Amino acid sequence: MNYNAALQHNIFKIISNAAEKLNIEAFVIGGFVRDHILGRGTHKDIDIVAVGSGIDLAQKVSELLPDQPKVTVFKTYGTAMINYGDLEIEFVGARKESYQKDSRNPIVENGTLEDDQNRRDFTINALALRLNPADFGDLLDPFNGIEDLKNKVIRTPLDPDITYSDDPLRMLRAIRFATQLDFEIYEDSLKSISKNHQRIQIITKERIVTELHKIIECPKPSTGFLLLEKTGLLQHILPELTALKGIDELEGQRHKDNFYHTLEVLDNISKHTNNRWLRWAALLHDIGKAPTKKFNKKIGWTFHGHEFEGSKMVYQLFKRLKMPLNEKMKYVQKLVLMSSRPIVLSEETVTDSAVRRLVFDAGDYVEDLMTLCEADITTKNPNKFNKYHNNFKIVRQKIVEVEERDHIRNFQPPVTGEDIMKTFNLKPSKEIGLIKEVIKEAILEGDIPNNFDAAFALMLKEGKKLGLKANEKRQ
Ligand code: CTP
Repeated sequence: MNYNAALQHNIFKIISNAAEKLNIEAFVIGGFVRDHILGRGTHKDIDIVAVGSGIDLAQKVSELLPDQPKVTVFKTYGTAMINYGDLEIEFVGARKESYQKDSRNPIVENGTLEDDQNRRDFTINALALRLNPADFGDLLDPFNGIEDLKNKVIRTPLDPDITYSDDPLRMLRAIRFATQLDFEIYEDSLKSISKNHQRIQIITKERIVTELHKIIECPKPSTGFLLLEKTGLLQHILPELTALKGIDELEGQRHKDNFYHTLEVLDNISKHTNNRWLRWAALLHDIGKAPTKKFNKKIGWTFHGHEFEGSKMVYQLFKRLKMPLNEKMKYVQKLVLMSSRPIVLSEETVTDSAVRRLVFDAGDYVEDLMTLCEADITTKNPNKFNKYHNNFKIVRQKIVEVEERDHIRNFQPPVTGEDIMKTFNLKPSKEIGLIKEVIKEAILEGDIPNNFDAAFALMLKEGKKLGLKANEKRQ
């Protein structure tokens, strides 16, 4: 089969010329070919295999390009990279790897294209197109990757135990591709993952997190998490989630399975947002439930304080997985911490003051928090489902109204500490804090509007109560 239609970009002609000049064979392989055949748009990372030196080929390609772009060489790996427009092109020499029984270190030798294809992760990622002019665009598919693409199957070229032991991250990649492409993992492969799951522990956290992000960003991320759980990988990566599995029953009282509930919430939210971190918040919103679970004869199962516990666990989890401990982490923490607030609020009559407090505490995250709470409604009882959704509509409406009137978001006290000091001739002291707190509370309760005049009047009143004497003139 010929796929020269995939090779319209002029870079492929240039690589072809360069290979011809060096008298070596060159191929484009991997994700670019796979995604072209699947019609998934143009892959911006292009992987080129040379039967010879990848570095020499990259250098020749650069010479033939108009601006002779920089060639970044990774000597230890024998690879080289060129950025050309929005493309990132990686060159590697075809390699053959063989393992010795008594050593885990592979012997790497130069090999043929087929040797190289053997060493790749999946048959659908081992498809190669020839770039040499004589048969430009010819497909080389020794493992029937095309059939696997058609049948939507993830399969390893070699015995899966070998392919996964070569690089255990591939177990996670199999699950990621199955989730992204909506493919099935071939039975032998799945068995092999279940057998070798503990090997994931030798992989760096950064590589694991890259795959986790990709799973979370899929349209239906639960597919991936269910597979991670089923194969045993999840317990090594996110034990906080596997701890949520199971239903306990005591004295006829049961609680829901918080693991499956969490996955439903994650799928729900994924229909409404592509924000990676909001999806993370959905995944982690209940992790505090495992350590806080208690049984009480009168009220049954409780998870008191799970939101606070959960938000502390978010920090530990991000740290363990070497994820950023920056404002992204704080955002996830805050959403987990506040994840029950709108629900509690919507169960009662929705008062303005409760909404003002919600907006005050959530600040700019308030809409995302509402999105999370709406996704959290997984009841199968249609009456309850509608009731909760309607209540949240009212909360959302009230947020808009309260915002227009009171501007509580990113609240700045209308009377500053400076104002208070000047009015009462005070040095920095605890009275200033006390007065500010009373003003803030009065605004949130709706006792006074959020403006300077009302706040100033309250300040004078509070000052008097504290025995302070105000200057004659208003400052
Ligand atoms: N590869 C592999 N084993 C890995 C990673 C990558 O065999 N652990 C090979 C596969 O042939 C893959 C190619 O290297 O197609 C490029 O890898 P990568 O850029 O990570 O993945 P893509 O297949 O391009 O897909 P995506 O961009 O969606 O990650």
